[in-house]
Amino acid sequence: MSEHETRIVSTRSENENEAADVTLRPKTLSEYIGQKAVTENLKVFIEAAKSRGDALDHVLFYGPPGLGKTTLAGIIANELGVDLRITSGPAIERAGDLAALLTNLNEGDVLFIDEIHRLHRTAEEILYSAMEDYEIDMIIGKGPSAKSYRIPLARFTLIGATTRAGSLSAPLRDRFGIISKFDMYTPEELAEIIRRSASILDVPIEADSLMEMASRSRGTPRVANRLLKRVRDFSQVKGTGRIDMQITEQTLESLGIDKRGLEGLDRDILGLIINRFGGGPVGIDTIAAAIGEERVTIEDVYEPYLMQAGFLHRTQKGRVVSEEAYRHLGLAAPAGGPVQLSFTDTDTDSE
Ligand SMILES: Nc1ncnc2c1ncn2[C@@H]1O[C@H](COP(=O)(O)OP(=O)(O)O)[C@@H](O)[C@H]1O
Ligand SMILES: [Mg+2]
Repeated sequence: MSEHETRIVSTRSENENEAADVTLRPKTLSEYIGQKAVTENLKVFIEAAKSRGDALDHVLFYGPPGLGKTTLAGIIANELGVDLRITSGPAIERAGDLAALLTNLNEGDVLFIDEIHRLHRTAEEILYSAMEDYEIDMIIGKGPSAKSYRIPLARFTLIGATTRAGSLSAPLRDRFGIISKFDMYTPEELAEIIRRSASILDVPIEADSLMEMASRSRGTPRVANRLLKRVRDFSQVKGTGRIDMQITEQTLESLGIDKRGLEGLDRDILGLIINRFGGGPVGIDTIAAAIGEERVTIEDVYEPYLMQAGFLHRTQKGRVVSEEAYRHLGLAAPAGGPVQLSFTDTDTDSE
């Protein structure tokens, strides 16, 4: 296991205890906590599609990892009462793989494509006519004997998920009728998610521990659930089995998660910008090289929370840390404040 996979803040969910992950995943809209801007509208669209007996329009979900995109896709299929097929952009190697998936769908079914921004160009082009006209053109054979066939498809719903809506080509993006952005969760919502998970896992937990974990979960349900499982481990081995403040603090400290939910790599990023680049601005590629982490991981996994928490800003010239970041790391901000430029957060390279 690489160091990255052992972190609480991980990009991937595959190495999680799959069984526990599945039991914690809400299965109905009423169990799905928060993200109201997304779910209130979806509720209407789902009901309308059902009453018309039609397939739901294609849906695009975007936002940082761990916010519930895959979960909500499953819930939509469940609420529609249809089958769900799951795949991902990088898993589709040839256009034929996607054609096979599409031709096997039944009326109203949901096809979920995770990381849809990583779909190969040839597969993406098949999606255009599939989404718009529910048909695909396949060329079968090679050379002069090659023939083009038009294959009709069942009326299906495509749900795409991506961490970066800006990486989607315009023709693909335009074919989604519903585009929803996922926001980070409030500590109150996360506390509710942890309370629900704790009751499913059957671990008693005290109210103050609940809030403590929630406020250190970087706005992300996946992180909140992981934290809960680690605190449960500690309470079983070193405590009474009941989750209280003492065991919660102890776990968080062992994991290197600070008061604001930052872990080692977050502090490395901020520390680097402060100590080597005077607080910024500094380019993302420079940060990635110095930290020894992939640029996309920093952009998709670490930065969203650092920005949300007000420690980091993206500017035209690069990344800049806030005075708050200096304070949080216990460092003195340079006279006049670290940020000498007037800036607005720009998200040009990720959205
Ligand atoms: N709104 C929510 N309510 C309760 N649990 C949630 C919610 N969103 C996510 N989760 C939990 O967090 C985990 C990660 O969610 P997931 O859908 O895999 O995120 P994403 O696909 O956006 O990366 C899920 O296993 C689920 O248990
Ligand atoms: Mg997912």
